[in-house]
Amino acid sequence: MIPIRYVEPVFRPPSEAESLILPVTDGCSWNQCTFCEMYTAPQKKFKAREADEVLESIRLTGERYGDQVRRVFLADGDALVLPTRRLLAILEAIRAHLPAVRRISSYCLPRNLRKKSQQEIDELAAAGLKMVYVGAESGDDQVLAAVQKGETFDSTCAALDKLGNAGITRSVMILNGLGGKLLSAQHADNSARLANATQPEYLATLVVSFPTGEGRLRAGFPGWEPLGQHELFVEMERFLSGLELERTVFRSDHASNWLVLKGTLGADKERLLQQVRQAVAAPEAARLRPAWARGL
Ligand SMILES: C[S@@+](CC[C@H](N)C(=O)[O-])C[C@H]1O[C@@H](n2cnc3c(N)ncnc32)[C@H](O)[C@@H]1O
Ligand code: SF4
Repeated sequence: MIPIRYVEPVFRPPSEAESLILPVTDGCSWNQCTFCEMYTAPQKKFKAREADEVLESIRLTGERYGDQVRRVFLADGDALVLPTRRLLAILEAIRAHLPAVRRISSYCLPRNLRKKSQQEIDELAAAGLKMVYVGAESGDDQVLAAVQKGETFDSTCAALDKLGNAGITRSVMILNGLGGKLLSAQHADNSARLANATQPEYLATLVVSFPTGEGRLRAGFPGWEPLGQHELFVEMERFLSGLELERTVFRSDHASNWLVLKGTLGADKERLLQQVRQAVAAPEAARLRPAWARGL
């Protein structure tokens, strides 16, 4: 048994399927985005874990599985909220007790980095933090305010730039459909502008989905109407058209997407656009994910 205490549900990016999931906090320190229910269960109320518990988990994992662990994902919703000195102690313990680890990653909110200097982020990178996943969700300030993301175009850019300067790989998530019908065009345009301004190494889109209803989102976003399948493709076409990326791995393959898109941007831009345009013009001829196979 892994000597780590898990508080369910625990989320991780699909690309961390092989990683040791190491909770250093429980829940999300912000937890106010009206589209997100990931950490709303009472047991997921935000709490930083005691340093002793985390360090002991690392030591015991090292004793039992020391040379087998190659990747570590620091959970939960925004592990980088911890002060730099606590993060450095965790990264150093991983290096000492799990010597085969080659990649340490975590989710990160732009606000987590606001008070951390460039030098601190550089120190985290030097101590082994290799990759972070940033749920930008949109580059449009009106959409971000309406869904209570607590971030803006500028705050997200600033965080992505700090990470990029430190050489930390950035994986950015954008939510297709988040602006609803009303703000779809500006959501697409400004999300593309955000990606262009920051040139992340990875960019992923998910379709905003509501397994337990849209009530919370609608309450703060008067007039929000979900995009239908066709409108989601139109928004995606507009977003992709606006992207001017030099070398970004693009993925739209999460289970929430109807249309699976994968490629490297800019090289594959025309091919991906063709795929989306086909889905816009003739969805019956495009290879779409069946409704039963979609999910969050
Ligand atoms: C665990 S959360 C993100 C971590 C981090 N707190 C952040 O916001 O960057 C992972 C991502 O799931 C996505 N997500 C959350 N609620 C969603 C929803 N209702 N539909 C689709 N994707 C959602 C968002 O893109 C979010 O950034
Ligand atoms: S999207 Fe991220 S920041 Fe927003 S509530 Fe969910 S986990 Fe927290």
